[in-house]
Amino acid sequence: MKPRKMLVTSALPYANGAIHLGHMLEAIQTDIWVRLQKLRGHDCVYVCADDAHGTAIMLSAEKKGITPEQLVDAINAEHQRDYHDFHIRFDNFYSTHSEENRLLSEQIYQALDRNGHINRRSIKQLFDPEKQLFLADRYIKGTCPKCKTEDQYGDNCEACGSTYSPSDLINPRSTISGAIPIEKQSEHFFFALPQFRDMLRTWTRSGTLQEAVANKLSEWLDDELQEWDISRDAPYFGFEIPGAPGKYFYVWVDAPIGYMASFKNFCDRTDYNFADYWSPGADTELYHFIGKDIVNFHTLFWPAMLTSAGLRTPTAVYVHGFLTVDGTKMSKSRGTFINARTYLQYLNPEYLRYYLAAKLGAGIDDLDMNLEDFAQRVNSDLVGKVVNIASRCASFISKGFNGRLAAELDNPELLAEMQNAAGEIAEYFEQREYSKAIRLVMALADRANQYINDKQPWVIAKTDPQSLQLQQICSTGLNAFRLLLCYLKPVLPEMTAQAETFLNIQPLLWNDIDSLLLDHTINNFKPLLTRVETDKVQAMIDTTKAEFAAQQEMIPAAATDQPKAAVNNPVIEPEIEFADFAKIDLRVARILNAEHVEGADKLLRLTLDLGADPAGVPRTRTVFSGIKSAYEPAALIGKLTVIVANLQPRKMKFGMSEGMVLAAGPGGKEIWLLEPHHGTQPGMRIT
Ligand code: MSP
Ligand code: ZN
Repeated sequence: MKPRKMLVTSALPYANGAIHLGHMLEAIQTDIWVRLQKLRGHDCVYVCADDAHGTAIMLSAEKKGITPEQLVDAINAEHQRDYHDFHIRFDNFYSTHSEENRLLSEQIYQALDRNGHINRRSIKQLFDPEKQLFLADRYIKGTCPKCKTEDQYGDNCEACGSTYSPSDLINPRSTISGAIPIEKQSEHFFFALPQFRDMLRTWTRSGTLQEAVANKLSEWLDDELQEWDISRDAPYFGFEIPGAPGKYFYVWVDAPIGYMASFKNFCDRTDYNFADYWSPGADTELYHFIGKDIVNFHTLFWPAMLTSAGLRTPTAVYVHGFLTVDGTKMSKSRGTFINARTYLQYLNPEYLRYYLAAKLGAGIDDLDMNLEDFAQRVNSDLVGKVVNIASRCASFISKGFNGRLAAELDNPELLAEMQNAAGEIAEYFEQREYSKAIRLVMALADRANQYINDKQPWVIAKTDPQSLQLQQICSTGLNAFRLLLCYLKPVLPEMTAQAETFLNIQPLLWNDIDSLLLDHTINNFKPLLTRVETDKVQAMIDTTKAEFAAQQEMIPAAATDQPKAAVNNPVIEPEIEFADFAKIDLRVARILNAEHVEGADKLLRLTLDLGADPAGVPRTRTVFSGIKSAYEPAALIGKLTVIVANLQPRKMKFGMSEGMVLAAGPGGKEIWLLEPHHGTQPGMRIT
């Protein structure tokens, strides 16, 4: 078999949030496929990157009081750790905010322009006069023009479902500043997508796409195609368009080019040749794994751009559905919007790899992670069936035969049957029908367990622990175990690595299925995988809920963008009664201690002295405050400040917060703790 040369990608996660289990579904699907290719001896390179550009990232950096570069660097490191800890093995993980990507984006754009595929014209858009920023639809809210429901986004109404243009909204507001948007003209650059209609009709029907995806696309391709707006005006975090100061590439232009840039960066430190993978007519294969929400970018704009630029188009784009949890969309308030890191605090990543593999098919249906089913499936299949085979056979070999496997086996037919399934299993993996592959593997595991049940080695061991028959039965069992591992290796790389140590063998490759382990000494068996504990699953959900609650409730106003909006664009608040004000117990407090909180990026933990209570007992309080961006903890110790002393204690991710300190400022470095006059004393009531 001639090794194939393949380049594989997963979609680039946005660099303004954590990796969650939805992202992980995609990464795991891709990683299994890549590992299979590599195990089968193909030359397969897997690249990814962070998608670093766009308005959302720019705003989110601003909120945190850091530069977008600082934000995307920090997130990149986090993302890499998350993927790594789920055993996702990219050959390169890069960033779209890179020199390679800037260069490639400029070159491709210039090629499109030369070929007459870029048009320029002026368009009218809503503009935030305060922020001096053009507003994408999702940054505008107002009252639905049809049903009059308030607080609807600029493009469609969640209440009545009607779609409209943001300028139709009644009483529109910028969600960024609260300002009333105005209409403003500016010149935009457009990619002439309609010119690629014939090319796309052919390409989408040439075996590059799943049937369901191709069908969906032909609906679009039968309609009039629109030109694609590829420019955004400053301020924008992205690449400036060559020869057009103040105009930037829309993030979706340089995002897919980011696949190329990551690969380019990889080529520059290896002896892979970039052109071999991107020239038209190359004998290499190019695959993109993506979710169903970003199909048009990958199957219309991207192949059209590549074609215009004289580059190769993808061999295939593989689309998957969305991960749901317990039957519904992942939800922060229900605790099912689970971050990769939160999962890892409680559960073994291979549980998820296995569970998803056991459920993934080649279609675009959503995949439900039912938490009960998850635990049950992993426990019964992996622990109960696969690992069980080894644990039932290993000790007899260690005790009775000094770890030596027999030179001849008791049931070579069983093993031959297991070996004969290799072609079918490989084909299922190749076709991304992982659930079918897993079903077959588990059927084989059942056969092996049945064999051991029938032979009852434990009965023989009681009377004759050194009999050849016992050795041959257990050696058959352990060979069955080894074959199952070969099949499961793309899914369970870590467990397989441990099993390889136990079996005392070189790392397994797919071809090793053809051989058996005879007359060979193994090591002592150690448990390879423990059962999923359901209380850990629950703890993961609880933590996810708590994280969300902390985000919702505990980030004090000073650490968000709210004060800025309030200062520049006063919002009229209803008046309160004096009695309401009198309920608030404001006290002077002294900061006894201030410290960083591990894992928190906004909060400091403050220990406050509130003076003595009437009985003379000193009162201290622990308060979490979102002032980390503005203060070094050491600089706070000894200061006097103001605390809301009768606020109900609130449980936060990092512990109980017993009150709230007062601060003001727009955010970032500009937050100032209120400091009362030196003459005041801890415990004094502010009236
Ligand atoms: N940055 C773009 C992709 C650019 S590719 C040139 C983007 N980023 S994303 O972070 O929103 O999503 C990254 C990938 O994760 C997408 O393929 C998306 O479909 C996938 N998923 C995001 N949530 C998901 C689920 N709940 N379930 C499965 N996949 C999901 O889109
Ligand atoms: Zn409506």
